[in-house]
Order: sequence, then structure tokens, then C-alpha cells
Amino acid sequence: MSVVGFDFGTQNSRVAVVRGGGVDVVCNEVSDRVTPYAGDAARTLQVGNFRNTVINLPRLIGRLSDEPAVAVEQGFETCQLAEKEGVVGAAVSYREEDAVFSNTELVGMFLSKLKAITYAETKLPVSDVVISVPSYFTEKERRSLIDAAEVAGLNCLRTVNDTTAAAVCYGMMKTDIPADKPKNVIILDIGFSSLKMCVASFLKGSAEIKGHAFDMSLGGRDFDEVLANHFAEHFLETKKVDIRNNKKALLRLRVACEKIKKILSGIQKTKLDLEALIDGEDFTLVAERAQFEELSMSLVDRVEKTILELLQKANISVEDIDSVEIIGGCTRIPSIKARIAQIFGKEASTTLNADEAVSRGCALLCAIDSPLVRVREYKIADTVYFPIKLVGDQNLGEVEIFPAGSNTCETHTFTLTLDHSISFPLNFEAHYSDLTSLPAGTPSQIAKFTVTAPKDLEINESSTMVFDAHVNSSGLVDITKPRVEVTTAVPTDEEGKEEAKTHVTSLSIKVETFRLPRATVQKMKDAEIAMSLHDRLIAEIDDRRNAVEEFIYEARNKLEECYSEVSSEQERESAGSALMTAEDWLYGEGAEVGKEEYVKKLDELKSIFKPFISRIVERAKAASVDSEASTPYSVEAPQMDMD
Ligand SMILES: Nc1ncnc2c1ncn2[C@@H]1O[C@H](COP(=O)(O)OP(=O)(O)OP(=O)(O)O)[C@@H](O)[C@H]1O
Ligand SMILES: [Mg+2]
Repeated sequence: MSVVGFDFGTQNSRVAVVRGGGVDVVCNEVSDRVTPYAGDAARTLQVGNFRNTVINLPRLIGRLSDEPAVAVEQGFETCQLAEKEGVVGAAVSYREEDAVFSNTELVGMFLSKLKAITYAETKLPVSDVVISVPSYFTEKERRSLIDAAEVAGLNCLRTVNDTTAAAVCYGMMKTDIPADKPKNVIILDIGFSSLKMCVASFLKGSAEIKGHAFDMSLGGRDFDEVLANHFAEHFLETKKVDIRNNKKALLRLRVACEKIKKILSGIQKTKLDLEALIDGEDFTLVAERAQFEELSMSLVDRVEKTILELLQKANISVEDIDSVEIIGGCTRIPSIKARIAQIFGKEASTTLNADEAVSRGCALLCAIDSPLVRVREYKIADTVYFPIKLVGDQNLGEVEIFPAGSNTCETHTFTLTLDHSISFPLNFEAHYSDLTSLPAGTPSQIAKFTVTAPKDLEINESSTMVFDAHVNSSGLVDITKPRVEVTTAVPTDEEGKEEAKTHVTSLSIKVETFRLPRATVQKMKDAEIAMSLHDRLIAEIDDRRNAVEEFIYEARNKLEECYSEVSSEQERESAGSALMTAEDWLYGEGAEVGKEEYVKKLDELKSIFKPFISRIVERAKAASVDSEASTPYSVEAPQMDMD
């Protein structure tokens, strides 16, 4: 079984596996270490098929179609977002028919692709996986991702905050972490769509996350947008046309602006031509770093604001920060690095691989969680960002069970005094207690717990209900072991003395979360398997068709070159005409036939050429026997795939 971690990014995803005592980032089918759905290559394709290309999948996960965040995302998408079974999805053309896929299905498809990439590399079954999420993901998004993983046939062991995963990578890979004095490090990640950061306090063998901060709408795409708007304004002024009203032209402009942004990280000035951008008009983009820095100053100010928020949340001062580790593609922008250096009085550190630290951390966490491999013990404690309260019915009131900043994975035991006014079932709801801190549109309710008791349970004044609560390693709220405890004074052997004895009755608990019903997930999973099989079949058909085409061209070339000495003119004429007929068939009625027919056609052609090859092989053998005594050279038969 593979031990695997996915960095599920908005633009770029990476897969890392733990094997042979190390962590490797895996290459995909085009030998790339990143798998994008909005990266350079995919975006070039997107220009050609923009209505059917869905990007920014992590931004849509778990969202309802009417949430404000979805309207924002529509501005970055070139396909039409739509609703499917109440959640957001995309309307695309699939197999030449209109279809709507929900975000869970789309993410399931993408994760299934990452799974296939992993399998192609490890040749081991892929099931358990740790997947990264931004720290601003609430319960709803995390649970949707877990559903999508299940659709892809994966068992998501945990959803981990990106920066926490990078902290694990840092803590486990670095050899100079002290055992006595904690080393305080800020992990700062700016990716394609968001800024995330945390303060991690490292000791040898452990990391404690002291706090998180983020700006969920500040990423590389916002820097691109600043440039795109600047150029669009210029175009509007000079040509009186607003590029922003034309989806395809805007997409080409955005792709160009991303290129410019990256180039300006290395040099001071650049120029890019966009031919026939709109209405046949060419557009030349000229940009200087200084101008870009001025245009994007307010974005860099927001990076600073988030850093100050983080220091306050983690209750730590600038002086106590030992280093600031930067990760994520966007931290390559010089003005961001300069601002960090200005705040901390020292350069940002690049100890971590900016592109791969998150996936490596995920893979290491998978190794920690998995019984399949043995890794050095490593303790990681994350913190709760959004405070959580529990609200009970029957006038039980509410209690904040996890204030912001409390440790995840620490179990808290809660006690509730019961009296005759209370009857089972008892209902509790977990809610986020600070609505102002939540991303707009996030519902406050997280989960519902219904506690039931055995019919014969007697409740008296000394009955208390006790339960354990914790936020697990995936950042999800869990209530376990509900029980009724009755403590009574029981006489002891010693005369006149009594001791307290507690009688415990276990209660049952039903938990309702944001997870989809099992039957719905199974239906999506079946559909995903059917689509994968269909894709595989199409790929196999293409493969067989290409094999016939290749054979025709290769055999035609060899007919005069290599086979003339072993065949009569008549034989060659007849073989040549068979190739011609096969070619006509391939581009005519055989253009869209099944795999078997291509296999049959290839076999037919091979049987025509087999005698020529056999004769060449015979000749080569004879020549090699004759020449063995006199020459060190051997004669080789021409190579052709005849199997
Ligand atoms: N040299 C560079 N200079 C400036 N920006 C860069 C450079 N290289 C990459 N980027 C930007 O980094 C971003 C991609 O970073 P990354 O791969 O970390 O994103 P992601 O993980 O997919 O996104 P997120 O973490 O927000 O979900 C893009 O906006 C890209 O343009
Ligand atoms: Mg990222």
C-alpha cells in the first residue's frame, strides 16, 4: 500500500510518497512534479476549451451555489458555475452532451487522477492518504473533501492545514532543532488564491502550532488581476474596447499577466505581445517591476496586516520569531520578500522547498497515521481557529467547548447535571461561536448530536451526564463516550465509614454532520469508476489506432529501403497496395471503430510483412555465421515491432 500525501492546491497539486526511508515527490504522466488544473499547460488548453474547463476546485468545495464566495469565484472561472443537488457545480459538455457535475464529483475526478499518478509511480494500491487544506477551511469544506476522496476510492486519514503540513516537513527533516529551547518559526504560504501562515514552536521530536492567520482572498491570481486591470484600462483608453467583457480575451490577458508577474520576479522590465487579442487587434504589454510594485502595494500591505494579526493571535513578538520560512509560488515576488525582511529585520528563509513542503508534510503525516510503515515518533499539535460552542436543547443552554487557540486532539471532558426536567433523547448542536470570524456564507452549525439512553435508566439528583469532546487531527469536532454517572456513598468494611462509588451507564450517540449520505457518495463513486473506465477505454482505442498508423508509415518506408533484397517486385507491390487500402480504411470507415478492430487490422498487416522479416533474420543469421571467422562485425535485421 502506498503511503501518500496530496497537496491539493488551487492551481497546482503535488503528490508525495514515503518509501525506502525517504519522501519523494512523484512525477505525473508528462514527467512533471506538479499537476495543475490551472497551471501553464492546462491554462493554454483552457484558452481553447474555456467553456468546459473548471478551475479553482478547492475554492468551491463544500459551497452552496448561492454563497457570496461562489459569485466571486464565477469571476475567475470561464465555465458556467451551476447548482447540482443544492451545492455548487459546473455546467460543461461531457461526451458531447450537456452535463452538470457537482463540486464533490469534480474534486473526486481530480483526486482520482492524483491516485492514478501515485499508482503509476509506486505500483502499489493507493488508499490511505493525507490531504492538505487551507487553514480557513471550516468543517463543511473539510467534510466535503473527505467525501470527494471517497468518491475517488481514497480513505482520507486526515485533512491537514497546508502550513501545519509544511511545519511537519520542517520539524521532521531538520536535524538542528534543539531539545530544550523551543524554536519559533513562522511558516508563510502564498499560493494561487490565498495567503496562509502559522507560528510553529519546534522542539526535537515535536511541533506545536501556536496560531494561524490567513487572507483567503490574497494569492497570485490577485497580483495577476492587478496587472490585467491595468492593461485592460489602457486598452479601453486607447482602443475603446473593454477586454474584460470578452471571456476568451480576458483569459488570454490573465495568462499573459501571470507570465509577466513571474518574469518580473527575476528581471526589472519585460514585454509581451498578444496577437489578435480582441477584434483582430494586437496588444503589446510592457511592464516594469517598479510599476508592478506600485500597482500591487495594497496587496503587500495585506500580507503585513496578516502577519501582525498572526503575532497577536499567537501571542508572540517579532523578537521571539527565530525565522520566517516562506513557501508557495507567490512568495517569489521580491516586494513580498522585502516586506517580510522589513517587518522581522531579517531575510525570509527558504529552507523548505517552496513548492513541495506541503505535499512532503502530508506524506509524512500519512506515514505517522499508517500502520504500514515505521517512522520516527513525531508529535504535532494544531490549534482551533474558529471557536466552537455546544448548544443543548431542553434549556441546557450553551458552553464554549473550544475557544480560539485551543489545542486540537486534546480531549476535554464535560459534565452536565441532570434532573427530572430532563429527558432523553437529548439534542446538542455544535456551532461556530464567533460568526464575524467566519468566511461569508458559512453556516454557524457544524454538527448535531442526539444522545439516547437505555429505557430503564433511572435519573436522580446525583445523576450527571458526562461526555468527551475533541477537535480531531482533521480539524473536525467530535463528541464521544456519552455516559450517565451516578455517584453514591457506599458503606465500607470500616465501621461508620463510607466511600464514593460511581455507577456508569453508557449512552448511545447519533452524529449528523455535513457528510453526504452514504448512498449518494456510492452513486458518485460508481459514476467516477464508469467515467475512468470509459477514459481508459478511449485511451486504449487511441493507442491501438496509433499503432496501426505507425505500422503503415514505418512499413512503407522500409518497403524500398530494407525489404527490396528479400522480396520480389510483385510481393512489394501487393504489400504496398495493402498498406494503401489500410490507410484509406484508417482515415475513412475505420476512423472510429472499436479497439478489437484496430488490433485485427494490425495483425493482418503484420502477417503480410512477416515473411520479409523472417527472410531478413535468416540472412542476418547466415551472414553472421559466415563472417564470425573473418570479421568482428555482426549484421542486424531491421527492427520492427512484430509481436
Ligand atoms: N517566480 C514567480 N514569481 C511570482 N509568482 C510566482 C512565481 N512562480 C509561481 N508564482 C505564482 O505562484 C502561484 C502558484 O503557487 P502555488 O503552486 O503555491 O499555488 P497553489 O498551492 O496551487 O495555491 P493555493 O495554495 O492558494 O491553493 C501562482 O499564482 C503563480 O503565478
Ligand atoms: Mg498551496
